[in-house]
Amino acid sequence: MSLKGKVAIVTGGNSGIGKAITLALAGAGANVAIDYVANEEATEDLEKQVAALGDQAIGVDADVSKVSDLQMLIDRTVKELGRLDVMVNNAGIETRTSVLETTEAQYEKVMEINLKSAFFGTQLAAKQMIAQGSGGRIINISSVHEDWPMPGNAAYCLSKGGMRMLTRQAGLELGPHNITVVGVGPGAVATPINTSTLENPEKMKVLDAAIPLGRMAQPEEIGSVVAFLASDGASYLNATTVFVDAGLMHSSPGL
Ligand code: BGC
Repeated sequence: MSLKGKVAIVTGGNSGIGKAITLALAGAGANVAIDYVANEEATEDLEKQVAALGDQAIGVDADVSKVSDLQMLIDRTVKELGRLDVMVNNAGIETRTSVLETTEAQYEKVMEINLKSAFFGTQLAAKQMIAQGSGGRIINISSVHEDWPMPGNAAYCLSKGGMRMLTRQAGLELGPHNITVVGVGPGAVATPINTSTLENPEKMKVLDAAIPLGRMAQPEEIGSVVAFLASDGASYLNATTVFVDAGLMHSSPGL
């Protein structure tokens, strides 16, 4: 499962699932561009961790909800690391607001950071991969909620539903260029996006009870799947989503 000689970009790559993906890709030998918008120190620290694994890393301060920033991220990656083989569209936020509560500003922010960034990240990465002429892999970090409504998290679920279709649409259009597009649908993961749940023992009890393995995932358990999906072993996966949720999506607690 070696990624030696490959270059990857991870958007939102300095925290949560993104950080674990950065380390898993580097652990398999890839050089990584770590995109971030906040916490430069965490990025620098992560760059050192990647270097300690024997790989190269660069940190790029880019707001991936802006197409010009995405282009800059790809240009810097190619300039400093030589090429682009794996694009991981990971950056994401949620507002935990319902259909009735969600404001226009919240809706737009979630859609821009989660879905617009993945759409144009896919488009611009694919153009670079096509120019290189040796194919590539695009991995969209979605959620169980690309398929499964989550009451009280409306815009988030919409954005992930959009990512689901992006993965399928782009997989069909880019397949002929030997670029595969795969979604990853994590369940509940112990990351900063879930801080309010992690800090609430009552909520944790209900959540853990709903998960067949009885616990949230650690970010590394998502990172390792992404490293496999980036490798040659996953060469025939395209236009589909791999759910990494311990069966959460299929469980109906209390019924
Ligand atoms: C959401 C979390 C939620 C989890 C399981 C994730 O996609 O970001 O807020 O706890 O799904 O429902």
